[in-house]
Amino acid sequence: MNIIRENSGEAIFCPTDVCNAQEVQNSLEMTLQELGQIDILINNAGITRDGFLTRMELKDWQKVMEVNLTGVFNCTRAVAEKMMEREEGCIINASSVVGVYGNIGQTNYSATKAGVIGLTRSWAKELGRKGIRVNAVAPGFIATKMTEKVPEKVLDRMKGNTPLGRLGKPEDVAWAYLYLASDHASFVNGAILQVDGGLVL
Ligand SMILES: NC(=O)c1ccc[n+]([C@@H]2O[C@H](COP(=O)([O-])OP(=O)(O)OC[C@H]3O[C@@H](n4cnc5c(N)ncnc54)[C@H](O)[C@@H]3O)[C@@H](O)[C@H]2O)c1
Repeated sequence: MNIIRENSGEAIFCPTDVCNAQEVQNSLEMTLQELGQIDILINNAGITRDGFLTRMELKDWQKVMEVNLTGVFNCTRAVAEKMMEREEGCIINASSVVGVYGNIGQTNYSATKAGVIGLTRSWAKELGRKGIRVNAVAPGFIATKMTEKVPEKVLDRMKGNTPLGRLGKPEDVAWAYLYLASDHASFVNGAILQVDGGLVL
């Protein structure tokens, strides 16, 4: 937030549990009050609760569904209404390569990230008619807190399967978000942009 302000931007911080529709609505109202309008929504919140299928507990299945799918639904439903009034806006969803290819130990997570692709394509059609572009980014393995939990040997295997031979950096994904949010992508709608160094799982 400080970096945005130091660069003459305006920034506010509204801690929000995306699973809680009322909290999402409160944050939306606070944002509209402080900043006037919402041009871009990035549905970036996401969690993992990895485990093999036969050992996966129902609570871990449900929690991942709640954050990674219901959270995206809550935020988009709230913001889309405001964007539709202005007939413009841009929504970007965080999917994943595992939503495209699947992955061992990620039954719940890969189902949600495949679901995000379904939401993205449905909304691209439904909201596109109202001037709102909806796209997704499907990152490969990116060095963040999320992948700190992944065993070293799995990460080494992922690097080995990546033609570029490394994990992604948060900036690699941020540039993709920036492109999709910009006017340079004004005819890009319903796209699933893989940012994965060429990884094939
Ligand atoms: N790191 C990767 O390799 C990778 C790969 C593909 C996709 N992704 C996706 O990218 C997005 C960002 O992941 P990341 O790697 O930065 O993970 P991260 O764990 O570093 O960050 C996830 C963020 O989501 C927030 N969050 C979790 N539950 C929330 C909730 N209920 N309400 C609001 N916020 C909540 C956390 O506070 C955290 O800031 C996620 O959707 C993730 O699934 C990550």
